[in-house]
Amino acid sequence: MTGLHGRSFLKELDLAPAEWTGLLDLAAELKAAKRAGTETQRLRGKNIALVFAKTSTRTRAAFEVAAYDQGAHVTFLDPTASQLGHKESVKDTARVLGRMYDAIEFRGEAQADVETLAAHAGVPVLNGLTDDWHPTQMLADHLTMREHAPVVDGRRKADAELVLAYVGDGRNNTARSVLVAGALLGLDVRVVAPVPLQPAADVVAAARQVAARTGARLAVTDDVAAGVAGADFVYTDVWVSMGEPPAVWAERIALLRDYQVNAGLMAATGNPAAKLLHCLPAYHDLGTAVGREVHAQTGMDALEVTDEVFEAHAEVIFDQAENRMHTIKAVLVATLA
Ligand code: CP
Ligand code: NVA
Repeated sequence: MTGLHGRSFLKELDLAPAEWTGLLDLAAELKAAKRAGTETQRLRGKNIALVFAKTSTRTRAAFEVAAYDQGAHVTFLDPTASQLGHKESVKDTARVLGRMYDAIEFRGEAQADVETLAAHAGVPVLNGLTDDWHPTQMLADHLTMREHAPVVDGRRKADAELVLAYVGDGRNNTARSVLVAGALLGLDVRVVAPVPLQPAADVVAAARQVAARTGARLAVTDDVAAGVAGADFVYTDVWVSMGEPPAVWAERIALLRDYQVNAGLMAATGNPAAKLLHCLPAYHDLGTAVGREVHAQTGMDALEVTDEVFEAHAEVIFDQAENRMHTIKAVLVATLA
């Protein structure tokens, strides 16, 4: 169906463009089936281990609900409640879990860990975020873009006609994935970030190789106005990612203050219908401990996106969050059913 049966899902670069779009098509089918009450359970009798060495709300919830909807069972494991990392190596953990489970989801720091798991588990390993990549997030983002693509003269814009501008920390997992996944889908993708926070040259080169096959247009720029001009979708993420020390906040704010997604930045798209994506969680108000701490030190009441802009685009952003579940379900069905 998608050619992904029995395979791991570790990073976007491992997939062919048709495999990527196959997952998006499957996710749309699964979403429609759930809505219509006609979903068929294709994962009955399967057991899936969910290993989270970093915290999560969406990704864990999405894997659990997707698995249950499809008739599979899950076990949640984290470092505080398992031997992983401190008492047992990743390689040994892989060989144990592979004997019991049909698939393993892993979220952690090193991409090498998820690759080691895949090399030794003997079952598909699915990357739920590492410091390098966030591939399941990208499927949700692309499904959301397809659903909210502008309609011009009665026709919904195709993938290749869509313009996506990611604004913020261009070196983090999300930004790297935005570039490579956007190349796979054939988008016009811009990463808009100050020079010290632009994606590494090897990531840009890898994305360009994919783009040469798909016709995607890629750009990396520190110029906000040029970067967001004509965007159908603006995308942002937190300025400090999980695993980074709190000490980096001051430097990051100084670098990214001018890259905040606010009314002025949205206006700079020149597109009154431009939509906002955010992988979440977001610092758009004082509802978080980090947000309040930064506010006490800087007076900023929002970081990567203002509350006004976030709330104006909340419908799309929470569709995007919901789509984590439908797209992760597609990954489970494609690799395991
Ligand atoms: N977007 C995302 O991965 O969210 P969680 O960290 O809550 O899983
Ligand atoms: N870049 C963020 C993404 C969270 C979903 C992080 O790694 O914390």
